[in-house]
Amino acid sequence: MIIAANWKMNMGFHKAVEFLASFNSLVGSEDKENFIFFPPACLSGLFHKENFYWGGQNIYYKAEGSCTGENSAKALREMGARFCLLGHSERRWTFGESDVDVEKKFSLLQELALIPVLCVGESLSDRFDREKILKRQLSWIKDYKKYEKLPWKPELLPKFFKDISLIVAYEPVWSIGTGDTPSVQELNETAHFIKDYLHLHSIKTFYGGSIDEKTVKNFSKCSYIDGFLVGGASLSAQGFYSIYEQCL
Ligand code: PGA
Repeated sequence: MIIAANWKMNMGFHKAVEFLASFNSLVGSEDKENFIFFPPACLSGLFHKENFYWGGQNIYYKAEGSCTGENSAKALREMGARFCLLGHSERRWTFGESDVDVEKKFSLLQELALIPVLCVGESLSDRFDREKILKRQLSWIKDYKKYEKLPWKPELLPKFFKDISLIVAYEPVWSIGTGDTPSVQELNETAHFIKDYLHLHSIKTFYGGSIDEKTVKNFSKCSYIDGFLVGGASLSAQGFYSIYEQCL
């Protein structure tokens, strides 16, 4: 089980330094490959020499150019990022990102061999019609013929990631930061639906939305879930580590 931290914009420089010092004292070196961090882009330098997998929270869809203020996927890759979140609901709802924007960014990530963590999920009003929303958010991937042939350098990735080209993170909007979560059955059915719909071997599915050391226990039994994307509960080193312990 992979546990990923989405720090959003809630982690400052000093707090991140403290976090990494405490987290390093909790995690054995053989366990490090079970985590992925998504720090704010300006804190990426802290991960350059760390032995953790990490990635960007968002990138611009061009590899380079006169794009003042945007996040460069190329620079993140050069600094050691291996992953990137795509289409997080906060990007979609707060910053108006469309599926077309997401697809453009996906294409650049492919070129740079960064593994996309594509976030999908329905809002509360669509909770019982979620397959329709998920199909809309995922349908363009089915046309992506190139997408299983990424130019991996497998030695850079642990065994778990070796053969994958995409992680889909199911994150219902109504669950993010609310304490409300789907039932285990609902989650397993949805993750199964995603894998079945995309029908590709190289996919892993994560769940995100109000995961903490209590909620994770039941979800870790979902056979179609390969990892968790954690927001609020990833800000404390001990709390984040406890989530991992509950999955062992
Ligand atoms: P949460 O956020 O764990 O605070 O609900 C998850 C996310 O937005 O990725």
